[in-house]
Amino acid sequence: MAVTTTELRKKFTELFGAGAEPKAYFAPGRVNLIGEHTDYNGGHVFPCALTIGTYGLIRPRADRRLRFYSLNFEDTGLVESSLDELTPDEKAGWTNYPKGVMWTFGLRGYRITKGADILIYGDIPAGSGLSSSASLEVLTGLMLRETYGFDISMVDLALIGQYSENHFNGMNCGIMDQFASAMGKKDCAIFLDTSDLTYEYAPVKLPDARIVITNSKVKHSLVSSAYNDRRRESETALKDLQTVVDIRTLGELTEEQFEQYKDAVRGPVCRRRAKHAVYENQRTIHAVEALKKNDIVTFGKLINASHVSLRDDYETSCPENDLLAELAWSVPGCLGSRITGGGFGGCNVSIVKNDAVEQFIEALDKPYTEKTGHRAEFYVVDIGDGAHALD
Ligand code: GLA
Repeated sequence: MAVTTTELRKKFTELFGAGAEPKAYFAPGRVNLIGEHTDYNGGHVFPCALTIGTYGLIRPRADRRLRFYSLNFEDTGLVESSLDELTPDEKAGWTNYPKGVMWTFGLRGYRITKGADILIYGDIPAGSGLSSSASLEVLTGLMLRETYGFDISMVDLALIGQYSENHFNGMNCGIMDQFASAMGKKDCAIFLDTSDLTYEYAPVKLPDARIVITNSKVKHSLVSSAYNDRRRESETALKDLQTVVDIRTLGELTEEQFEQYKDAVRGPVCRRRAKHAVYENQRTIHAVEALKKNDIVTFGKLINASHVSLRDDYETSCPENDLLAELAWSVPGCLGSRITGGGFGGCNVSIVKNDAVEQFIEALDKPYTEKTGHRAEFYVVDIGDGAHALD
């Protein structure tokens, strides 16, 4: 964290004036180790919360006004609104995320009657695909729950975040990011079955390896519309498959069943999308089994296979992230590497032997800049806890 909570408190008083001490909260970003584009296909995911994320200070008001300020959008300045203006508005910029969560609270019968002053600061690199928006949604949910005394579970806060993103902010995301931000646990990844939200914490014991995130620093445009397209293509494939096999989601199929029924899917594009969803789900199950047996080599190979599938079948990678993956695969101490998150740019995640981290960075840094003109960023990360209050 580049800014301390003491500094945030000082800034809060500067912006909103003296008064009752605001309460401070944190919600993390996430990285997904494996299980990509499976969360809206009834499959498994395996994300973990990071120690970077979004911080928030909140103080309730006596009236219905809302005042927001983000240290990440200083140019935007103070954004004023009210509990009576909870409708999506382009001009509202980043505040559409907290407002979407407030709106969803209302839909679910959690009546917020008093406004608030809210200060936000995030240390997730902008546009990196490490879930800054999900962390802001979960953070808002937690702040509202604590400030106004609602009885809501952390899983429900994740669902509220997802609902607000889908219906207020127009991104048809699955549950993975909000779930990881709300439910993360230090040193563990979450093996989540998105068909029923059952989950298990799997310790990520990497005695001689680290998780390294490489930010390609590219974010191709129309990300959310391309994401929504993938989601629609998966749904079309599912409908075709349902004409020949009794399933509710693609996640219910094994690889063998998919091969048996795949011709029912009309069109090669939807067939490839469905193939990815089915195989990626199975890969995720196998990867968690391998990790439990401390078989990091198999775990890494499945991570590599995930990238290939996202590149060729799901087509959510891009030349920059492909290049980073290929460079990573050629480093002897790299056990596995793939694009992570929604795709079309953003970050790759790699498992790298401790003594090879430096060499790994060197092997990617220069060739990547030479070939693309972009300078990649590297983060050697730790797995942190889910959203919580700060003292
Ligand atoms: C984005 C979405 C998630 C998930 C991933 C792909 O991060 O928000 O719900 O679908 O993409 O795995």
